[in-house]
Amino acid sequence: MATIKGFIFDLDGVIVDTAKFHFKAWHRLAQDLGIDFSEEENEQLKGVSRRESLQKILDWGQIKLSESEFEKRMAQKNDWYLEFVREMGQEEALPGAKEFLRESAQLDLAIGLGSASKNARLILDLLEITPLFQTIIDGTVVSQSKPDPEVFLKGAEALQMEPKSLVVFEDSLAGIEAARRGGFRTVGIGSKSILQDAEIVVSGLDQISPVEVINQLNF
Ligand code: BG6
Ligand code: MG
Repeated sequence: MATIKGFIFDLDGVIVDTAKFHFKAWHRLAQDLGIDFSEEENEQLKGVSRRESLQKILDWGQIKLSESEFEKRMAQKNDWYLEFVREMGQEEALPGAKEFLRESAQLDLAIGLGSASKNARLILDLLEITPLFQTIIDGTVVSQSKPDPEVFLKGAEALQMEPKSLVVFEDSLAGIEAARRGGFRTVGIGSKSILQDAEIVVSGLDQISPVEVINQLNF
């Protein structure tokens, strides 16, 4: 078994409580289109790019939009999302997340971000944690949405490490699948009933330490 040398973190729902803002903004947009979807269905949107998320919602409602209307709706969702983000404070960092990142850095582990979001850098800056990341792979540099492993493979390449020596932390089904497809080790952040395919599942980064992750995965 390869030694763990670094961690790649998803952002929304792992480091910061923005998954709820994505849900609220998509839900509002869907209602505008006469479509309703539940929090359970929302699990399918987590980790998925803006474009693919809208496509899924339209498929649920069996609605087709022209490309210009599609672009307008994506922009509208993002405006609403950013309204929530602008009001958020440091307290939206999820419990234990910043401590976990700092402890990981102290252990000399490589640290990367692997997020589908085009707003990732803005959010890291707002939380004042950008310098903790040696590489930031976000929605502006990937072409394939999770569950494609591209975002994490680009992270591994930038860190110059093999996927099997990196642990991916993810709150989404699509993200855990992406990590597994890429050959990474996995920690699910959320509920065991949803993230069954992750090697370890905890409800948050306050429930485990970097050393415990490494020990449990090396066991
Ligand atoms: C992911 C979120 O991190 O980023 C998704 O889990 C979101 O809900 C995706 O759709 C894209 O984000 P953005 O900020 O580029 O619209
Ligand atoms: Mg996420």
